[in-house]
Amino acid sequence: MTALIIAIDGPAAAGKGTLARRLAALYGLPHLDTGLLYRVTGRRVLDAGGDPTDVVAAEAAARGIVPADFTRADLRGPVADEAASKVAALLPVREALFDFQRQFGDGRGAVLDGRDIGTVIFPDATAKLFVTASADARGERRWRELRARGVAAELAIVTAEVRARDAADEARAASPLRPAVDALVLDTTDLDPEGAFVRAMELLAGVLPSSLIVRRRDAG
Ligand code: CDP
Repeated sequence: MTALIIAIDGPAAAGKGTLARRLAALYGLPHLDTGLLYRVTGRRVLDAGGDPTDVVAAEAAARGIVPADFTRADLRGPVADEAASKVAALLPVREALFDFQRQFGDGRGAVLDGRDIGTVIFPDATAKLFVTASADARGERRWRELRARGVAAELAIVTAEVRARDAADEARAASPLRPAVDALVLDTTDLDPEGAFVRAMELLAGVLPSSLIVRRRDAG
């Protein structure tokens, strides 16, 4: 039986992670937040005193990732966001991280969220969701997340940073952010996390084989 792969892509702070975790729990699948791979890579370059746009340093950082990197406390916030976006534009970095992402899902199935899961990593995914929302809604969500973590931030600046990172992710030559032609688009601008989950279930019901859903649910 082909493993169930759910690919979730979209711009920053659209609600991909929350949705991916809920779908993974529902179907009893492992979840990979692929943004963490780029965040860790960016951090490793900064740790070494390097420049995240330096392709040699960034590829070495990506190839040197160890499990402990994922438990770092400094993977979120404006500095990590910017470093991640810069290393993510480099093709050798993306190639270095390709096999890990494929192997994560191959065989057992998975829910993966990122920018190029449905277009590059798993173009053969069972289901693809492109989760988006207005830039203002996403800026406000990211601003609230920062405030909840005790980080002082200006809403206008956070929103501008989100817009700038989306623009860079969309414009890059290597795996640009864009919906796969067969992606189901989910706009969460006016939805809370529960509403987004319900809408995602409605969309997925049209593409997932029902027998597989039932078996996964029972197994979960
Ligand atoms: O949490 P947020 O949506 O802000 O970002 P993230 O998913 O953690 O991704 C951080 C950055 O990594 C993005 O701005 C992209 O530049 C990059 N990324 C990517 O290029 N490809 C992925 N599959 C995931 C993230």
